[in-house]
Amino acid sequence: MIRVERLDPDTARGHRDALGDVLCDCVDGGASVSFMWPFDRTQAARYWDGVIAALGEQRVCLFAAFDGAQLGGTLQLWLDGPCNRRHRGDVRKLLVHRACRRRGMAQRLLQAMETEARRRGLTLLTLDTVTGGDAERLYRAQDWQAVGVIPRYALWPDGRFCDTTVFYKDLAATAV
Ligand SMILES: CC(C)(COP(=O)(O)OP(=O)(O)OC[C@H]1O[C@@H](n2cnc3c(N)ncnc32)[C@H](O)[C@@H]1OP(=O)(O)O)[C@@H](O)C(=O)NCCC(=O)NCCS
Repeated sequence: MIRVERLDPDTARGHRDALGDVLCDCVDGGASVSFMWPFDRTQAARYWDGVIAALGEQRVCLFAAFDGAQLGGTLQLWLDGPCNRRHRGDVRKLLVHRACRRRGMAQRLLQAMETEARRRGLTLLTLDTVTGGDAERLYRAQDWQAVGVIPRYALWPDGRFCDTTVFYKDLAATAV
């Protein structure tokens, strides 16, 4: 049974190692999610400490998906834009451990994030993702609109370039 929770800073701190496991597993598996090989738990812990600090400053909402007690996936909604774009949220780091994939965790995380975005009165969501990757199919299936492809925007963890597709979701125009 999968459930999704929005984490407060204390709860996130308690799950920091599990969040690190998910991030390490995704990077080990070759996902292009900001980090290069070799990537280890110390770097993952440092990354999550930064996210948890931002959580404490209410600059981000952090979601986690659980299968029973096991944290298997996570997603962030960043809200720290300047004052002329407070209506917009930036969606980042949709990560599901390889052992937990294809069971709807990512879908549930996106739905929980969108519900929270609407509750906060946001009207626009944006994200970017590797062109042709699993996540792209998922976003298209959930009514995200592709803006276009930026060639060689990022790197795979082994140093090769990868193209990136930019997406948006107009919450004002999309029924719940
Ligand atoms: C992309 C990712 C988050 C998907 O997580 P997931 O929990 O397996 O996704 P879900 O089970 O919710 O899948 C929902 C839908 O996405 C699509 N999808 C997801 N993975 C897929 C795959 N490997 N092949 C085909 N379709 C896939 C399908 O439409 C799927 O529905 P279905 O399982 O009923 O066919 C996961 O593969 C991942 O963490 N990848 C590495 C990190 C990454 O690249 N994140 C994206 C950053 S923007």
